[in-house]
Amino acid sequence: MTDIRYISTKEAAGIMGLSTRRVVGLCNAGKLEGTLRKGRNWMVPEETVYAYLGTAKPKEENGEILSCAVGNTSYMDVVKNSYYVDKTLLIRDLIDDQVPVILFTRPRRFGKTLALDMIKTFLKNERGYIYLF
Ligand SMILES: Nc1ncnc2c1ncn2[C@@H]1O[C@H](COP(=O)(O)OP(=O)(O)O)[C@@H](O)[C@H]1O
Ligand SMILES: [Mg+2]
Repeated sequence: MTDIRYISTKEAAGIMGLSTRRVVGLCNAGKLEGTLRKGRNWMVPEETVYAYLGTAKPKEENGEILSCAVGNTSYMDVVKNSYYVDKTLLIRDLIDDQVPVILFTRPRRFGKTLALDMIKTFLKNERGYIYLF
């Protein structure tokens, strides 16, 4: 048997990408299954939140839940706090290519800016310049 884990409307709002007010509204309207009244507040079963979103709860890594990096283009920040799809071998391609100019033709949100920050993180010197060769 698994215990139901209840979370606050504020925490639920954070996961659902809604305002706390809106989550309270959903609770008042009985739109969220299994909610409990605790004093003046609502408690929401965590499972209900993910069922509402139609997604599974994110996997834990080292006991810590990681999120996806949305709009974060700082490599150090993303590797520490979010899931990072490892593209560090791109550095080897850049060094092997030995060409003066590289044009990355990829659609927006493809990861160009984060990839450049990753390269910068590994290769910049103390003055912030990058020399590939
Ligand atoms: N390798 C990666 N692993 C995880 N998330 C990534 C990766 N590359 C990009 N993202 C995420 O995808 C989004 C778009 O990345 P971004 O570098 O801004 O794309 P672009 O510059 O091509 O528009 C950002 O939220 C970023 O954090
Ligand atoms: Mg960009």
